Amino acid sequence: MSPRHFIDIDQLDHTDLRNIIDSAKKMKQQGRNFPRPDERRIHDTLIMIFEKASTRTRVSFDVAMRQLGGQTIVLNSNDMQLGRGETVSDTAQVLSRYAELIMMRTTSHDSILELARHATIPVVNGLSNLSHPCQIMADILTFEEKKFSIEKAKVAWIGDVNNVAKSWVHAAARFGFDLRLGCPREYGPSNELTDWIKRENASVAWIEDPRQAAEDVDCVVTDVFVSMGDSDADRRNKVLANYIVDADLMANADSDAIFMHCLPAQRGSEVAADVIDGPQSVVFDEAENRLHAQKSILAWCLEMI
Ligand code: CP
Ligand code: NVA
Repeated sequence: MSPRHFIDIDQLDHTDLRNIIDSAKKMKQQGRNFPRPDERRIHDTLIMIFEKASTRTRVSFDVAMRQLGGQTIVLNSNDMQLGRGETVSDTAQVLSRYAELIMMRTTSHDSILELARHATIPVVNGLSNLSHPCQIMADILTFEEKKFSIEKAKVAWIGDVNNVAKSWVHAAARFGFDLRLGCPREYGPSNELTDWIKRENASVAWIEDPRQAAEDVDCVVTDVFVSMGDSDADRRNKVLANYIVDADLMANADSDAIFMHCLPAQRGSEVAADVIDGPQSVVFDEAENRLHAQKSILAWCLEMI
């Protein structure tokens, strides 16, 4: 049987996604004692490969794997033969002989797909240039803790339709909630993503005016205007300047709406300080939930749930 990879939210069905979210809730309730560190997991190893910087992903996966009873090895690709031209496929086959799981944060989504094609153990996407599925599982866990079932939600994504936004689009289709993309033409969804939304019949609307996009939503989400690897910072900051999530924009959302951001944030750029540091912001619960959501994702990959 092929391993249970966690590459993108659109690759899983609603039953598996719901199982991961509900298990994450139980794991969080039980704290670090659930599931009890399993004797059989003591020799299970998660290898993490980083081609880009990380604080939350690196630490939360490390702690999650240890709480499951296993151990971790963190590698920067430049310290590996991968950084000197060894193929991803050879790397995948070698690492599969040592460990039980691989998590990769990469500059090229194709590398994760290639890794998964050749690995005989599960591969988890810890962010690529195209998506960030673990983040959105933590975001959904956070939404449900603060509000209600995500299936009934209206969410507005404001700003650049980047890797994080793409995983929100996948989640909207699989969980079946309403998502509005409040973004300018230049940094809107790709044609490929627009076609995918149509094919999936997902409830995802593109609204250029950010204030209109935020109207009556239960949750406003944004992310940096310049992601890791983006080379057009000046242009992005100029075109996206009007897409800042400030108090004025939040006033258009439901009065009980929450504000989410995957972090790291640039106060004064994509979000005003009084919003991210204000009463509607749940960004630190969201960051904490990376741990609980990923513990559940790892447990799913290892067929423990
Ligand atoms: N949100 C997130 O993935 O943070 P890091 O880049 O710090 O891992
Ligand atoms: N869109 C951001 C997310 C960082 C967690 C980036 O890719 O840099």
